[in-house]
Amino acid sequence: MKIDKFETSIEPFRIKSIENINPSSRFEREKKLKEVKYNLFSLRSKDVIIDLLTDSGTGAMSSDQWSEIMRGDESYAGSPSFERFKSAVKGLMPFKHIIPTHQGRAAEAILLSLIGGKGKIFLANTHFDTTRGNIEATGATAIDLGSPPAGGADSFHPFKGNIDTDALGKFLTERANDVAAIILTITNNAGGGQPVSLANIRSTAKIAQKYNKLFIIDGCRFAENAYFIKNRENGQFLRPIKEIVRNCFSVADGMTMSAKKDAFGNIGGWLALNDDSLAERARVKLIQTEGFPTYGGLAGRDLDAIAQGLSEIVDENYLQHRIQLNEYIVERLVEIGIPVVRPAGGHAVFIDAKKWLPNVPPLRYPAHTIACKLYEVGGIRSCEIGSVMFGKQIDGGERPAEMELVRLAFPRRTYTRSHIDYLIEVLASLEDEIRDLKGFKIVKQTNQMRHFTCEFEKIE
Ligand code: F0G
Repeated sequence: MKIDKFETSIEPFRIKSIENINPSSRFEREKKLKEVKYNLFSLRSKDVIIDLLTDSGTGAMSSDQWSEIMRGDESYAGSPSFERFKSAVKGLMPFKHIIPTHQGRAAEAILLSLIGGKGKIFLANTHFDTTRGNIEATGATAIDLGSPPAGGADSFHPFKGNIDTDALGKFLTERANDVAAIILTITNNAGGGQPVSLANIRSTAKIAQKYNKLFIIDGCRFAENAYFIKNRENGQFLRPIKEIVRNCFSVADGMTMSAKKDAFGNIGGWLALNDDSLAERARVKLIQTEGFPTYGGLAGRDLDAIAQGLSEIVDENYLQHRIQLNEYIVERLVEIGIPVVRPAGGHAVFIDAKKWLPNVPPLRYPAHTIACKLYEVGGIRSCEIGSVMFGKQIDGGERPAEMELVRLAFPRRTYTRSHIDYLIEVLASLEDEIRDLKGFKIVKQTNQMRHFTCEFEKIE
């Protein structure tokens, strides 16, 4: 946030409550990482200096949110906390039915158990991994139709998260009967945190309408997406974020949401729908798996914290600060010569490990190799989004992922500019550290979602 004529951009908040960071030595971190067989998910968070594993549920709540926590009403049914939650959601997303869940994937599981099934196809810009998992669990198929960015990962395109509407139209012309729904993930997390334009959302809605298909938005990072629309799309600059958000959702048939992202929640989510009969079936499923429809697996206090969080997330000072910090990191890394996905995304910065570490082949996991070194050298925990996460196939074989990325995901309102400068300094120092690395091999793994628990051995 800039004040008057002054150049220094400051955090648009001050700190009221703190958590201490444990300093550790490089020797200690090397030992810890070896002990957990080089799986960063297995580290204890107290052994991490800066935790950029995820932006999910890891943000700082405001003092107003903590006040709402005290206001929470814990009645099993008919709690006023639910009324406040519902009206906050409806204020931004004008859907008829709002169904709370304990997090985003629970909303996905409920919806997909009702509309998925063998032989059905789901089309998306890019399915997030839990969405894909929930689709495949029903026997259905998830197909990604992201727009191929002209010029690759570092080319500038304002809306790299868009779905390829030509490919979508073509697919539906040929196989409309097989398609169960179209999903737009905004922003496009697995595709580099890149935004989807309002024009693309509207065109997708039109195509869905033409073929009479359900159009669902995975809205986890809706406010960041709206900020990008405001600043990058023609004719949007003078419009309030809240109005843009309402435009995005008003053309969809429903949404799934993780309140752990753009609702400033530490937990929570929801499923929203317009269709009465689908919503009724979803509520029955909710009662079976999550809880009564006025709490959906959450405490009343969580519903109130989310309701308050929704009023704060559309604040432009906050959004500008968040996105500009990402832009600042990307600019510094480009200056240093570290290849990154450009332009900067909403919630994270993505390092292109294929380019930075070309001597480590995809199935020796270059992004994982960099992520481990980043922890050893600076105590910074990041997340591999590459062949460890996506390489294992349903048939048991292994195929390289399309991209090998190290994701640095930023918890909301949690770290300051000095943490960020430390991150940049550590990354700059890695250039000399990584050149002779040979990568890793996986020595123990599960059949699905192996990245959470698999064990590695360093290739010497
Ligand atoms: N959709 C998207 C786009 C997500 O990024 C996530 C979670 C979910 C759905 C599932 O929500 O965690 O509340 O069940 N993403 C986290 C991440 C885990 O680190 O990107 P959830």
